[in-house]
Amino acid sequence: MNKFYLTTPIYYVNANPHLGHAFTTIVADVATRFHRMMGDDAVFITGTDEHGDKIVQAAEKAGKAPEVFTTEVSDSFRALWPKLETEPHAFMRTTDPAHIKEVQAFLQRVYDSGDIYFGEYGGHYCLGCERFYTEKELENGMCPQHLTKPEYISEKNYFFRMSKYADWLKDHIRNNPDFIRPERYRTEALALLESGELEDLCISRPKSRLTWGIELPFDKDYVCYVWFDALLTYISALGGVESEGFAKYWPSAQHLVAKDILKPHAIFWPTMLKAANLPIYNHLNVHGYWLVRDMKMSKSIGNVVSPLGMAEQYGIDAFRYFLLREMHFGNDASFSEDALVARLNADLANDLGNLYSRVLAMTAKFCGSRVPAPGAFTPLEEDLVRLADDSMRNFQMLLGSMRFSQGIEALWELVRGLNKYVDTAAPWALAKNGETERLHTVLYMLLECMRKIALHVWPIMPGKAERMLEQLGVPFDGAKANLQGEIGHFNGLVPGTEVAKNSNLFPRVELAAKEEAPAPAPVNEKKTPAPKAKEAAKATEAPATIQFEDFAKIDMRAGTVVECEPHPNADKLLRVLVDLGEEKPRQVLAGIAAYFAPQDLVGKQVVVVANLAPRAMRGLDSHGMILAVKTETGLELVQASGVVPNGSQVS
Ligand code: ME8
Ligand code: MG
Repeated sequence: MNKFYLTTPIYYVNANPHLGHAFTTIVADVATRFHRMMGDDAVFITGTDEHGDKIVQAAEKAGKAPEVFTTEVSDSFRALWPKLETEPHAFMRTTDPAHIKEVQAFLQRVYDSGDIYFGEYGGHYCLGCERFYTEKELENGMCPQHLTKPEYISEKNYFFRMSKYADWLKDHIRNNPDFIRPERYRTEALALLESGELEDLCISRPKSRLTWGIELPFDKDYVCYVWFDALLTYISALGGVESEGFAKYWPSAQHLVAKDILKPHAIFWPTMLKAANLPIYNHLNVHGYWLVRDMKMSKSIGNVVSPLGMAEQYGIDAFRYFLLREMHFGNDASFSEDALVARLNADLANDLGNLYSRVLAMTAKFCGSRVPAPGAFTPLEEDLVRLADDSMRNFQMLLGSMRFSQGIEALWELVRGLNKYVDTAAPWALAKNGETERLHTVLYMLLECMRKIALHVWPIMPGKAERMLEQLGVPFDGAKANLQGEIGHFNGLVPGTEVAKNSNLFPRVELAAKEEAPAPAPVNEKKTPAPKAKEAAKATEAPATIQFEDFAKIDMRAGTVVECEPHPNADKLLRVLVDLGEEKPRQVLAGIAAYFAPQDLVGKQVVVVANLAPRAMRGLDSHGMILAVKTETGLELVQASGVVPNGSQVS
């Protein structure tokens, strides 16, 4: 049996997981489930990266010992995966004794082979990246990723002779076009190697500066550099180089990362493996960033989207579908709830959901909810067979090379083709005219192709796919399911099988009601009756002029957010406590949960309409309104240009 072994990055535990982390793990899960459906023995692993300065600082900030802090955050990652329907084969922490042992054995191996030496080094150290930068790599003296000024550090350290392997690696990348994919990242990696001499890698930190790390087996005064430690999780998670798991899965290894960590994966990791005389991985798959308001979604920027919030609001399957469909693997993509809702309504409610509900309703009406026996094919069915085979073949080919969005699009050609087939073949007319054999052929083909679609979407939407198959009377059987076997055969459903009488798997979704302002009226909807359309048009025009006295009635004040949490009964709302210089902080409910994580608002100054009449929202009272500016892709808070005393009036 072919093996498939995929890894996600080993995520830092300096902050809780956000959509970016959720995305990579969901992609790994989809790819793994897909390979299982293609007959492979497929697994993926994930884990947490827990050593280094950055983590120590985050723990200090949280007022916790690193052991306690890392366990808490690591647990929050571990607990998230099942909620996102992701099923990693292993979850490894870099503080796990088995991992530590593996790293030390690896270090010793490379040390013994002569590829680690002791030397003096000075460089610009970025704490955020946990790495040294050369003068040339800095932009205006700043770290290009974090836009902060690195610290100049000079000290004695251990070095890995990475430069020794530069030519070998260059050749390997040149000779293996899909070693790093998509192409643009292969080009980027080659450029890194060609830009000049590849330097040796500093792989230690003196304990005088950092103790939270893995001790070097050959010098107890030093700990290991986090990247040299973390990358080895890809091996320790399988049980280590001596294990059966390693022998079984490592030869099929592939990694999945975003472009932020291209260099350690494209350059450090293969040279490390080469130096230890271990086989290198087959593919490095690199995706782009999820952006919010044109900026990378990131904890340090504070614009993170909570994956659980989205999954609870729209359902995990629909959310997974959106993420895979929306991002062209390799490119950046913008996250917005509007795009999510539009996608779910178009692809799931209209195309797929509609197909299921109309075909099952017709099967109930014309065949007593039993799969009919098909008769002879006409050119219409022959066309459909061609479309279905092409669509499945393309889907399988594209998913196999991590082109999820195009793969889904290829499958949807069949979904839409089936809806057209219903319209063209018009089963209701066949029933009316007594063309029973023809009617049965049409309904059979529809149900059979719907079964194929359910099997193909299973890797992406496992829960929904299983419901779909149940509705067709053929419960999912993971051991038997095989996608390749679906091409060229249209006789999977057994006539007489009972199917569901109706289906409402993908209801239309609404953008969760904006609680502070009425939802914008659908000005573009053709069917809107005239009076409503007029009203709506008015709403988008500039508001009417008001007198100064009216404006003066509005009491706007600046204050600091002292506490913030999700509203217990409304996903869109945050409960924000704002210090307006009053006796106690004000409770304001703000419909901004999709744009700001609660903890990121704490400490920020905001502007509040302070004399707005109190208003109950889903069981809590709001005493004011936080002002924000709506942009094309999100929201920005209104703030004074500098810090002001709490309670200051806006005038
Ligand atoms: O780099 N869009 O951990 P990390 C898409 N510990 N993906 C994103 C994203 C975004 N906006 N933000 C994060 C580390 N990710 C190291 C890895 S591996 C041996 C060590 C995802 O917590 C994406 O997969 O900073 C990215 O590569 C990863 O999270 C970075 O996670
Ligand atoms: Mg990062």
